[in-house]
Amino acid sequence: MTEAELYMVYKGVYLPSTVHSPQSLKYYEDFTFRPDDILIATYPKSGTTWLQEIVPLIVSGGDPASVETVPNWTRVPWLEVNETCNLYLTNRPSPRFCSTHFHYSMMPPSFFEVKPRVIYVMRNPKDVFTSAFHFYGATSFHVHPGPQSEFLHNFLKGKVAYGSWFDHVKGWLNAEDKENIMFISYEELIVDLKDSVTRIAQFLEKPLEAEVIEKIADRCLFKNMKQNKMSNYSVVPREFMDQTKSEFLRKGISGDWKNQLSAAEAEYFDKVYKDKMKDVNYKFVWD
Ligand code: A3P
Repeated sequence: MTEAELYMVYKGVYLPSTVHSPQSLKYYEDFTFRPDDILIATYPKSGTTWLQEIVPLIVSGGDPASVETVPNWTRVPWLEVNETCNLYLTNRPSPRFCSTHFHYSMMPPSFFEVKPRVIYVMRNPKDVFTSAFHFYGATSFHVHPGPQSEFLHNFLKGKVAYGSWFDHVKGWLNAEDKENIMFISYEELIVDLKDSVTRIAQFLEKPLEAEVIEKIADRCLFKNMKQNKMSNYSVVPREFMDQTKSEFLRKGISGDWKNQLSAAEAEYFDKVYKDKMKDVNYKFVWD
Protein backbone atom coordinates (compact mmCIF):
# COMPACT_ATOMS: atom_id res chain seq x y z
CA MET A 1 0.00 0.00 0.00
CA THR A 2 1.13 3.56 -0.66
CA GLU A 3 1.88 6.51 1.61
CA ALA A 4 -1.51 8.01 0.74
CA GLU A 5 -3.28 4.83 1.88
CA LEU A 6 -1.30 4.15 5.05
CA TYR A 7 -0.17 7.55 6.36
CA MET A 8 -1.75 10.82 7.37
CA VAL A 9 0.19 14.07 7.34
CA TYR A 10 0.35 15.92 10.64
CA LYS A 11 2.33 19.15 10.94
CA GLY A 12 4.24 18.22 7.82
CA VAL A 13 5.24 14.68 8.84
CA TYR A 14 3.86 11.27 7.91
CA LEU A 15 2.14 9.33 10.70
CA PRO A 16 0.77 5.78 10.36
CA SER A 17 -3.02 6.14 10.25
CA THR A 18 -3.56 2.81 12.02
CA VAL A 19 -1.72 4.08 15.07
CA HIS A 20 -2.91 7.69 15.19
CA SER A 21 -6.26 9.35 14.62
CA PRO A 22 -7.63 12.89 14.81
CA GLN A 23 -8.92 11.93 18.25
CA SER A 24 -5.51 10.74 19.51
CA LEU A 25 -3.84 13.87 18.15
CA LYS A 26 -6.43 16.05 19.90
CA TYR A 27 -5.76 14.14 23.11
CA TYR A 28 -2.07 14.80 22.61
CA GLU A 29 -2.54 18.51 21.94
CA ASP A 30 -4.70 18.89 25.05
CA PHE A 31 -2.47 16.77 27.28
CA THR A 32 -1.61 18.44 30.59
CA PHE A 33 1.84 17.60 31.88
CA ARG A 34 2.84 17.50 35.53
CA PRO A 35 6.23 18.91 36.54
CA ASP A 36 7.36 15.48 37.71
CA ASP A 37 6.35 13.62 34.55
CA ILE A 38 9.19 11.76 32.81
CA LEU A 39 9.04 11.88 29.02
CA ILE A 40 11.14 9.63 26.76
CA ALA A 41 11.53 11.33 23.39
CA THR A 42 13.01 9.53 20.40
CA TYR A 43 13.09 9.27 16.67
CA PRO A 44 11.79 5.69 16.08
CA LYS A 45 14.36 2.86 16.23
CA SER A 46 16.70 4.83 18.48
CA GLY A 47 16.21 2.92 21.74
CA THR A 48 12.70 3.88 22.93
CA THR A 49 11.83 0.40 24.18
CA TRP A 50 15.14 0.17 26.00
CA LEU A 51 14.37 3.35 27.94
CA GLN A 52 10.81 2.12 28.55
CA GLU A 53 12.49 -0.71 30.47
CA ILE A 54 15.20 1.30 32.21
CA VAL A 55 13.11 4.20 33.53
CA PRO A 56 10.38 2.21 35.38
CA LEU A 57 13.06 -0.03 36.88
CA ILE A 58 14.99 2.99 38.16
CA VAL A 59 11.96 4.77 39.58
CA SER A 60 10.68 1.59 41.29
CA GLY A 61 14.09 0.95 42.84
CA GLY A 62 14.65 -2.11 40.65
CA ASP A 63 11.29 -3.81 41.16
CA PRO A 64 10.88 -6.40 38.34
CA ALA A 65 7.07 -6.02 38.54
CA SER A 66 7.49 -2.51 37.11
CA VAL A 67 8.30 -4.06 33.72
CA GLU A 68 6.73 -7.51 33.91
CA THR A 69 3.07 -6.79 34.49
CA VAL A 70 2.08 -4.51 31.60
CA PRO A 71 3.34 -4.05 28.04
CA ASN A 72 5.82 -1.25 27.39
CA TRP A 73 3.24 0.82 25.49
CA THR A 74 0.92 0.83 28.52
CA ARG A 75 3.75 1.24 31.03
CA VAL A 76 5.34 4.22 29.26
CA PRO A 77 2.63 5.18 26.75
CA TRP A 78 3.23 7.21 23.61
CA LEU A 79 1.12 10.30 24.19
CA GLU A 80 0.12 10.61 20.55
CA VAL A 81 -1.22 7.09 19.82
CA ASN A 82 -4.78 5.75 19.83
CA GLU A 83 -4.59 3.48 22.90
CA THR A 84 -3.34 6.23 25.17
CA CYS A 85 -6.68 8.09 25.04
CA ASN A 86 -8.16 5.19 27.04
CA LEU A 87 -5.45 4.86 29.67
CA TYR A 88 -6.73 7.59 32.02
CA LEU A 89 -3.29 9.00 32.63
CA THR A 90 -4.81 11.65 34.92
CA ASN A 91 -5.48 8.85 37.42
CA ARG A 92 -1.87 7.65 37.48
CA PRO A 93 0.27 8.51 40.48
CA SER A 94 3.38 10.64 40.04
CA PRO A 95 5.87 10.35 38.61
CA ARG A 96 4.09 9.36 35.40
CA PHE A 97 6.08 7.95 32.49
CA CYS A 98 5.32 8.76 28.87
CA SER A 99 6.95 8.58 25.45
CA THR A 100 6.79 10.51 22.23
CA HIS A 101 8.16 10.13 18.73
CA PHE A 102 7.22 13.72 17.92
CA HIS A 103 9.58 16.52 17.02
CA TYR A 104 10.26 19.28 19.56
CA SER A 105 8.30 21.71 17.38
CA MET A 106 5.26 19.41 17.65
CA MET A 107 5.11 19.34 21.44
CA PRO A 108 1.77 20.43 22.95
CA PRO A 109 1.38 23.81 24.74
CA SER A 110 1.46 22.28 28.24
CA PHE A 111 4.94 20.90 27.58
CA PHE A 112 6.36 24.40 27.21
CA GLU A 113 4.50 25.69 30.29
CA VAL A 114 5.24 22.82 32.67
CA LYS A 115 8.68 21.77 31.41
CA PRO A 116 8.65 18.11 32.49
CA ARG A 117 11.87 16.10 32.50
CA VAL A 118 12.81 14.63 29.13
CA ILE A 119 15.25 11.87 28.24
CA TYR A 120 16.11 12.25 24.56
CA VAL A 121 17.76 9.17 23.06
CA MET A 122 19.72 9.45 19.81
CA ARG A 123 21.29 6.76 17.66
CA ASN A 124 23.65 6.71 14.70
CA PRO A 125 21.24 7.44 11.84
CA LYS A 126 22.77 4.73 9.68
CA ASP A 127 21.79 2.18 12.35
CA VAL A 128 18.38 3.85 12.70
CA PHE A 129 17.97 3.42 8.95
CA THR A 130 19.03 -0.23 9.14
CA SER A 131 16.70 -1.00 12.03
CA ALA A 132 13.82 0.85 10.32
CA PHE A 133 14.36 -0.97 7.02
CA HIS A 134 13.77 -4.31 8.74
CA PHE A 135 10.96 -2.97 10.92
CA TYR A 136 9.06 -1.47 7.98
CA GLY A 137 9.25 -4.83 6.24
CA ALA A 138 7.67 -6.59 9.23
CA THR A 139 4.86 -4.16 10.09
CA SER A 140 1.58 -3.65 8.27
CA PHE A 141 1.16 -0.06 9.44
CA HIS A 142 4.24 1.14 7.54
CA VAL A 143 4.64 1.47 3.81
CA HIS A 144 6.65 -1.50 2.59
CA PRO A 145 10.25 -0.23 2.38
CA GLY A 146 10.70 -1.48 -1.18
CA PRO A 147 14.23 -1.77 -2.53
CA GLN A 148 16.87 -0.57 -0.07
CA SER A 149 18.04 2.25 -2.37
CA GLU A 150 14.52 3.64 -2.56
CA PHE A 151 14.02 3.45 1.21
CA LEU A 152 17.38 5.18 1.68
CA HIS A 153 16.26 8.14 -0.44
CA ASN A 154 12.96 8.36 1.40
CA PHE A 155 14.68 8.13 4.78
CA LEU A 156 17.20 10.84 3.94
CA LYS A 157 14.42 13.08 2.59
CA GLY A 158 12.26 12.50 5.66
CA LYS A 159 9.57 10.85 3.55
CA VAL A 160 9.07 8.18 6.22
CA ALA A 161 6.91 7.88 9.33
CA TYR A 162 7.68 10.63 11.89
CA GLY A 163 9.57 12.68 9.32
CA SER A 164 13.23 13.52 9.00
CA TRP A 165 15.79 12.11 11.42
CA PHE A 166 17.84 15.28 10.87
CA ASP A 167 14.97 17.63 11.77
CA HIS A 168 14.04 15.49 14.77
CA VAL A 169 17.53 15.48 16.27
CA LYS A 170 18.26 19.10 15.45
CA GLY A 171 14.94 20.25 16.88
CA TRP A 172 15.49 18.53 20.22
CA LEU A 173 19.14 19.58 20.42
CA ASN A 174 18.07 23.19 19.92
CA ALA A 175 15.35 22.99 22.57
CA GLU A 176 14.99 25.78 25.08
CA ASP A 177 15.27 24.93 28.78
CA LYS A 178 17.82 22.22 28.15
CA GLU A 179 18.39 21.76 31.87
CA ASN A 180 15.20 19.65 31.86
CA ILE A 181 16.49 17.45 29.06
CA MET A 182 19.00 14.64 29.28
CA PHE A 183 20.60 13.78 25.95
CA ILE A 184 21.94 10.25 25.75
CA SER A 185 22.82 8.00 22.85
CA TYR A 186 22.04 4.38 22.11
CA GLU A 187 25.78 3.90 21.65
CA GLU A 188 26.50 5.08 25.22
CA LEU A 189 23.99 2.54 26.50
CA ILE A 190 25.72 -0.15 24.46
CA VAL A 191 29.22 0.79 25.62
CA ASP A 192 28.47 1.07 29.33
CA LEU A 193 24.95 0.22 30.43
CA LYS A 194 25.73 0.44 34.15
CA ASP A 195 27.17 3.92 33.80
CA SER A 196 24.23 4.97 31.62
CA VAL A 197 21.71 3.66 34.18
CA THR A 198 23.62 5.52 36.92
CA ARG A 199 23.50 8.78 34.97
CA ILE A 200 19.82 8.39 34.13
CA ALA A 201 19.08 7.69 37.82
CA GLN A 202 20.99 10.85 38.77
CA PHE A 203 19.03 12.88 36.24
CA LEU A 204 15.80 11.48 37.72
CA GLU A 205 17.08 12.29 41.24
CA LYS A 206 16.67 8.67 42.26
CA PRO A 207 19.86 7.63 44.04
CA LEU A 208 20.31 3.86 43.95
CA GLU A 209 22.72 1.42 45.58
CA ALA A 210 25.40 0.04 43.26
CA GLU A 211 23.86 -3.41 43.65
CA VAL A 212 20.47 -2.19 42.42
CA ILE A 213 22.07 -0.40 39.45
CA GLU A 214 23.83 -3.64 38.60
CA LYS A 215 20.57 -5.61 38.70
CA ILE A 216 18.78 -3.06 36.52
CA ALA A 217 21.59 -3.02 33.96
CA ASP A 218 21.55 -6.81 33.88
CA ARG A 219 17.79 -6.96 33.33
CA CYS A 220 18.12 -4.44 30.51
CA LEU A 221 20.74 -6.39 28.58
CA PHE A 222 19.48 -7.22 25.10
CA LYS A 223 19.44 -10.98 25.72
CA ASN A 224 17.44 -10.54 28.94
CA MET A 225 15.01 -7.95 27.61
CA LYS A 226 14.31 -10.27 24.70
CA GLN A 227 12.83 -12.75 27.20
CA ASN A 228 10.41 -10.19 28.65
CA LYS A 229 7.04 -10.79 26.97
CA MET A 230 5.94 -7.38 28.16
CA SER A 231 8.75 -5.71 26.18
CA ASN A 232 9.46 -7.92 23.16
CA TYR A 233 6.16 -7.19 21.38
CA SER A 234 5.32 -10.91 21.25
CA VAL A 235 1.77 -10.12 22.39
CA VAL A 236 1.15 -8.00 19.27
CA PRO A 237 -0.88 -9.88 16.60
CA ARG A 238 1.14 -11.08 13.65
CA GLU A 239 -0.99 -9.19 11.10
CA PHE A 240 0.24 -5.99 12.74
CA MET A 241 3.86 -6.94 13.41
CA ASP A 242 5.19 -10.13 11.87
CA GLN A 243 8.24 -11.06 13.89
CA THR A 244 8.91 -14.09 11.71
CA LYS A 245 10.08 -11.51 9.14
CA SER A 246 12.14 -9.47 11.59
CA GLU A 247 12.12 -9.59 15.36
CA PHE A 248 11.40 -6.34 17.15
CA LEU A 249 14.45 -6.88 19.36
CA ARG A 250 16.40 -7.68 16.23
CA LYS A 251 20.18 -7.39 16.77
CA GLY A 252 20.69 -4.80 19.47
CA ILE A 253 24.14 -3.71 18.38
CA SER A 254 25.76 -0.56 17.10
CA GLY A 255 27.34 -0.53 13.64
CA ASP A 256 25.01 -3.00 11.94
CA TRP A 257 24.74 -0.49 9.06
CA LYS A 258 28.07 -1.90 7.89
CA ASN A 259 26.25 -5.15 7.09
CA GLN A 260 23.41 -3.31 5.38
CA LEU A 261 24.69 -0.39 3.33
CA SER A 262 26.89 -0.73 0.25
CA ALA A 263 30.02 1.42 0.15
CA ALA A 264 28.30 3.79 -2.30
CA GLU A 265 25.18 4.03 -0.12
CA ALA A 266 27.27 4.75 2.98
CA GLU A 267 29.16 7.44 1.08
CA TYR A 268 25.94 9.03 -0.10
CA PHE A 269 24.54 8.87 3.45
CA ASP A 270 27.66 10.61 4.79
CA LYS A 271 27.39 13.34 2.18
CA VAL A 272 23.79 14.12 3.06
CA TYR A 273 24.58 13.87 6.78
CA LYS A 274 27.47 16.32 6.49
CA ASP A 275 25.34 18.83 4.69
CA LYS A 276 22.28 18.55 6.94
CA MET A 277 24.29 18.59 10.16
CA LYS A 278 26.80 21.29 9.21
CA ASP A 279 25.37 23.86 11.64
CA VAL A 280 25.09 21.45 14.55
CA ASN A 281 27.47 22.08 17.37
CA TYR A 282 27.21 18.76 19.19
CA LYS A 283 29.71 15.97 19.55
CA PHE A 284 27.91 12.79 18.57
CA VAL A 285 29.49 9.55 19.73
CA TRP A 286 29.37 8.15 16.18
CA ASP A 287 31.13 11.08 14.46
P1 A3P B 1 17.83 -3.18 16.04
O1 A3P B 1 16.72 -3.29 15.04
O2 A3P B 1 19.06 -2.54 15.44
O3 A3P B 1 18.15 -4.45 16.73
P2 A3P B 1 12.90 1.51 19.32
O4 A3P B 1 12.52 0.86 20.59
O5 A3P B 1 13.20 2.98 19.44
O6 A3P B 1 11.93 1.20 18.22
O7 A3P B 1 14.31 0.88 18.88
C1 A3P B 1 14.42 -0.47 18.54
C2 A3P B 1 15.88 -0.81 18.42
O8 A3P B 1 16.46 -0.81 19.74
C3 A3P B 1 16.11 -2.20 17.85
O9 A3P B 1 17.37 -2.14 17.16
C4 A3P B 1 16.21 -3.03 19.13
O10 A3P B 1 16.81 -4.29 18.98
C5 A3P B 1 17.05 -2.08 19.99
N1 A3P B 1 16.99 -2.41 21.43
C6 A3P B 1 15.92 -2.50 22.23
N2 A3P B 1 16.29 -2.92 23.47
C7 A3P B 1 17.62 -3.09 23.44
C8 A3P B 1 18.59 -3.53 24.39
N3 A3P B 1 18.26 -3.89 25.63
N4 A3P B 1 19.90 -3.59 24.01
C9 A3P B 1 20.26 -3.22 22.77
N5 A3P B 1 19.39 -2.81 21.81
C10 A3P B 1 18.09 -2.75 22.14
